[in-house]
Amino acid sequence: MKKLMLLIALGFFSFSFKPTMGNKSSTDQEIESKVEQLLSKMTLAEKIGQLNQYTSRWEMTGPAPKGSSEQQMLEMIKKGQVGSMLNVTGAVAVRNAQKLAVENTRLHIPMIFGYDVIHGYRTMFPIPLAEAASWEPELARKSSSVAALEASASGLQWTFAPMVDIARDARWGRIMEGAGEDPYLGSQFAAARVKGFQGDDLSDIHTVAACVKHFAAYGFVESGRDYNTVDISESTLRNVVLPPFKAAVDAGAATVMNAFNEIGGTPSTANTHLQRDILKGEWGFDGFVVSDWNSIGELIVHGVAKDKTEAANLAIHAGSDMDMEGNCYITGLNELVQSGKVDEKLVDDAVRRILRIKYRLGLFDDPYKYCDEKREKESILTKENLAVAREAARRSIVLLKNENNLLPLKKDGQTIAIIGELAADKDVPLGSWRAKALTGSAVSMLEGMQAATGKSTVAYARGPKYVDGPSAFTAELSFNTTDRSGLDEAVALAKKSDVVVMALGENCFQTGEGRSQTDIKLKGLQQDLFDAVYAVNKNVVVVLMNGRPIDITEIAQKAPAIIEAWHLGSESGNGIADVLFGNYNPAGKLPISFPRAVGQVPIYYNHKNSGRPTNGEGNVFWSHYTDLSKEPLFPFGYGLSYTTFEYSNLKLSSGSITPGEKLQATVTVKNTGNLAGEEVVQLYIRDLAGSITRPVKELKGFRKIMLQPGESKEVTFTISDSDLAFYGADLKLKAEPGDFKLWIGTNSAEGLEGAFVLKQN
Ligand code: NOJ
Repeated sequence: MKKLMLLIALGFFSFSFKPTMGNKSSTDQEIESKVEQLLSKMTLAEKIGQLNQYTSRWEMTGPAPKGSSEQQMLEMIKKGQVGSMLNVTGAVAVRNAQKLAVENTRLHIPMIFGYDVIHGYRTMFPIPLAEAASWEPELARKSSSVAALEASASGLQWTFAPMVDIARDARWGRIMEGAGEDPYLGSQFAAARVKGFQGDDLSDIHTVAACVKHFAAYGFVESGRDYNTVDISESTLRNVVLPPFKAAVDAGAATVMNAFNEIGGTPSTANTHLQRDILKGEWGFDGFVVSDWNSIGELIVHGVAKDKTEAANLAIHAGSDMDMEGNCYITGLNELVQSGKVDEKLVDDAVRRILRIKYRLGLFDDPYKYCDEKREKESILTKENLAVAREAARRSIVLLKNENNLLPLKKDGQTIAIIGELAADKDVPLGSWRAKALTGSAVSMLEGMQAATGKSTVAYARGPKYVDGPSAFTAELSFNTTDRSGLDEAVALAKKSDVVVMALGENCFQTGEGRSQTDIKLKGLQQDLFDAVYAVNKNVVVVLMNGRPIDITEIAQKAPAIIEAWHLGSESGNGIADVLFGNYNPAGKLPISFPRAVGQVPIYYNHKNSGRPTNGEGNVFWSHYTDLSKEPLFPFGYGLSYTTFEYSNLKLSSGSITPGEKLQATVTVKNTGNLAGEEVVQLYIRDLAGSITRPVKELKGFRKIMLQPGESKEVTFTISDSDLAFYGADLKLKAEPGDFKLWIGTNSAEGLEGAFVLKQN
C-alpha cells in the first residue's frame, strides 16, 4: 500500500513533460471553445475516465476502496481512466501523480486534486460552527483564504468545503462542520467561505476551487444519526435547507458535492429534481457535481439500484458528474451508452463541466502550477497565518455567563487553579476534519494562560483521565468512568486558590463524520470533577471545548462564569487567554440553540408556532414537555460581553410598504458598561399569516458594532419585500401581503418589537 506513496514522494516518476502554455487570462468564451474542441477529440472511454475519481491509498477519508488495487489504479491513471484524485497532498506528491496522467495519456488531460480543507490546511482555524459564532462572515472569508493559500501551495486545487448543511440536531456529529441552524446566517458564511477559498480568480495559484456540500438536507438525518434517512417537505427544503447552497452558488462556487442521504425515498445522488432541476436548471450552476464517497455505489445499498451499472444509470441521469470512489461510472457507463440507455450527451455534459473547471483553474496552461516546493515551504504555518488563526479563535468565543464580573481575570493578585485534562491538551483544539494539522500542535489553554501572565509555572491539576487517545479512525471512544485518580489533587488545588478555570467538554473525535451521539452531556468523570471542585470553591470559570451544543444545564445553574470555546484551532490557548484576561472583550453569539436536555432536540429558534403554543388556560393540552421547559438553555444569537448594552428607541420609517418600497428600522444601542465592546445587533421578522405557516421568528439582518463606554450608535436596517419572500403554498418565491412583526435585539429571544404591513401594489 505504501509503494505508490513512496514512489511519488521520492519523485520516481520523472518524465520530461513540457506543458503547452496557454493564454492565462482565458475568457469564458475562449474556455468554452477550448472545452468543445477537446471534447470533440475524446473517445467515450476517455470521457468516462474524466468522471472517475480515486483516493490515494495512503490517506483515506472513507471506507477502504474495493474497486481496484493501488497498482491497478496507477495503470488506470496512465490510461486516462482517472480524471481526479483526492487525498494526495504536497507539491511533490501531486506533481508526480499529475505526471502519470499528463505524460502518459493521449490527450494529456491533467487531473484535478481535491482534499478536505474544512477549517485550515496546516494552520488550523476554529471549526466552522465556532467561527460562525463570530457573526463575522469577513473573518470566515479571511481564514478560508489562508487555508486556500496553504492548500494551493501544497499542490491542491480543490477543497471539499464549505459544508453548508443547516443542522438542528446536536446528536449529529457533523454539526461542527457547518454554520449552525439558521439559513440567513448560514448563507452569509457560505458565500464568504466560497469567496475566501476562490478569491476573485480561480486561476490564481493562491486560491482553490470550492465545493459546496452536501447537496442536500444531510443535516436533517433522522435521530441525528449519520448517513440516516431524511424525509422533509419541499417547503423545508426550499425555505431552510437550500438558501446557503444558493448563496454559495451565487458567490461562484465551482463545484458541489451531493449527499449520502435520501429525501423521501430518493437518495440525493439519484435526485434529478435537486441536481438537474434546481441546481443546474433554476440556479444556472455551470460547474460540476461530485458524488460523496461511493454515494453512487451506495445507491445499491439504499435499495434503488441492483448493481453498479444501474447505479451509474441513475446517477448520471440525475446529474451527478463525478464518481468519487464508487467505481460505478468506470464499470457501467460504457455499456449504458452502447446499449442506448444513457445518451452520450449526458456524459458529454458531465465531462464539459469538469473540463470547464480544469480550464478555469489554469491546469491546461500548466498542470504543475500548484506544485512549487519552495512556495510550499514558505507559505505554510507562517506567523501571518497564525495571527489570523488567533484573531479567529478569540472572535469565535461566546461568553455564556459572568456573574459578579468574575471575568476578566486579573493577571496578578489572584491565585488561579487550572483544572481539567482538556486544559493542557494540545491536540483536541485542532478539531475534527483537521487536514494536515500536525498532531499536538495547538497552543493549549494552559500554555496560552502561561504566556498571557508571563508566569512559567501555573497551578494545574489534570483531574481524572477523560478518554484514551482516540483518533479520527477510532470507531468507538472509551471514556474513563471508573479511575478517579487525579480527583483529590484537583480538589486540593481548587481549595487553596482564589479562582478555578476548568476546561470541560468533548474530545475532537467525539464530533465529525460518523460521530453521532445519543447523549450530549459531559462524558467520563467530568461532571463529577466539576461537582467536587465546586463543592470547595464556588469561583469556577468553566471553559467549554466542544464541537456541538452540549447539555450543561446542571453546570449552568452553578458555575458563575462560562465561556464557550469550541475547538478553536492552532491558536486556541492564546485566543482563550485573550478572553479570560480581558485582552479581548468577547462578542461571539451562538449560531445554534443550546438545549437543556437531549430530549429537546431538534431545537431551533425559527420553529413554527403550532396550534397550541401556550397554556393560556393552564391545562395540559398544549405543546410542551411535562418534565422540562421547552425553551433552550441558551437561545440562538445569545452571547454576553464584559460590558453591557442597552437597546432603545426603535423607529420605523413607515407603518407599511408596498413591493419595491423600502422600510427603515432604526434602533439606538448604548454601551452602558465600563469597557469598550462589540455587539451583534440582530433583526428578526415574523410573517403573521401566510399561505403556509411561517416561523415564529426569522433572522433577516445583523450588524456588529463597536461602542466605547457610554457611547451610543443608531443602527438602521433596510427592509424590502424581497427580505420577506418565501416559498409558499404554490412553491414560488414571493412575499405575501399582510401583517409583520419585527424585533431588533441582542439575541433571538429578546428585542424591541415593532410592526408593519406589506400592502399589495
Ligand atoms: C465523505 C464526506 O461526507 C465528505 O464530506 C468528504 O468530502 C468526503 N468523504 C471526502 O473525504
